[in-house]
Formats: sequence, C-alpha cells, structure tokens
Amino acid sequence: MYSFIVFVHVIGALLLGSFLAFPVAFKSLLSRSGNELKISVKTLVGFTRFGHYALILLIITGGWMVMGYATYPSLLWVVLSLILLMLIGALIGMIQKGLKSVIPAKNPDKVLQRNMAKLNILGWFTFLLIVTVVFVMTNHGLFA
Ligand code: HEM
Repeated sequence: MYSFIVFVHVIGALLLGSFLAFPVAFKSLLSRSGNELKISVKTLVGFTRFGHYALILLIITGGWMVMGYATYPSLLWVVLSLILLMLIGALIGMIQKGLKSVIPAKNPDKVLQRNMAKLNILGWFTFLLIVTVVFVMTNHGLFA
C-alpha cells in the first residue's frame, strides 16, 4: 500500500509541472493581442487547471504517509512541507485570478499589460517554490 501512496503522491507532483512551464509559456503572450490574446490566455488557464487538484492530492497522500507510516525525518520537515504547499496554493490562486481577469475584458491587452509584471514574478516565484519543495522531499537526511 505504501508504495501506491508514494506513486499517487509523485503523480500529484507531476501535475504541478504545468507551473514549471508557466513562466516560459506566459512570455509567449507578449506577442499577442485582442482575440488571439484571449484565446491564448484561455489555453493557459486550461493548461494550469490541475494545480489546486494536485495540491489536494499531495496533502492527502503526504498526510497519509506522515500519519499512517511516520516516514518523515522531523517535525521541522513536516511543517516546512506544509508551509511550502500552502504558499504554492496561494500563488497558484493569484496567478489564475490574474489570468482569468483578462478573458472577459473589453481591452484584454491593457488588462494584461497592467498585470504583466506581477504575473511574471508570481510565475517565477511558484517555479522556485516547486523546485524547493521537491528538494525538501528528496533530501530527508538534511532535515533529520
Ligand atoms: C507541493 C507539495 C509537494 C510536492 C511537489 C511533493 C513531492 C514529493 C516527491 C517528488 C517525493 C519523492 C518520493 C520519493 O523520493 O520516494 C515526495 C516524498 C514524500 N512526501 Fe511529498 N510533496 C509535497 C508535499 C508534501 C506534504 C505536504 C507532505 C506531508 C506533510 C509530504 C509528504 C511526503 C513524504 C512522507 C514523502 C516520503 C516518501 C518516501 O520516500 O517514503 N509531501 N514528495
């Protein structure tokens, strides 16, 4: 059973992959405008839709491993993992909100311009946090 939970946990981590590609995909929006921009933003929203579901899967399977099997190096590691997971969740929500605000806008170019710098920073910050949490997950020894 344990190896199955790890398997589902790692699938959850893979589902966050769209946010590793996000900063690069987001850049491609710069060269679009009007209706074309709206379609691209819709595609990007769809592409990143799994983010929050992935986090739910990760917290359920992670919590199961911690509480049911106690395979964690220390309480510090558990708290750090939970903080990182919540931060990623908050950032994903902010990115989705910023992107979705472009779709119904009369002038999508302007709305995107206004949110551009913020979304770019949020995207790279999410990227960094996902890499950090995978580092924390795969280096138990450092937190023992
Ligand atoms: C964004 C959040 C997370 C990501 C991307 C993530 C990803 C991963 C990855 C890639 C592994 C490696 C599996 C292996 O080495 O066998 C792992 C292991 C693990 N994760 Fe997470 N995880 C996340 C959150 C959590 C949380 C919140 C908890 C619980 C507090 C947790 C508990 C565990 C445990 C106990 C293992 C060890 C499995 C083992 O090696 O036996 N994870 N995680």
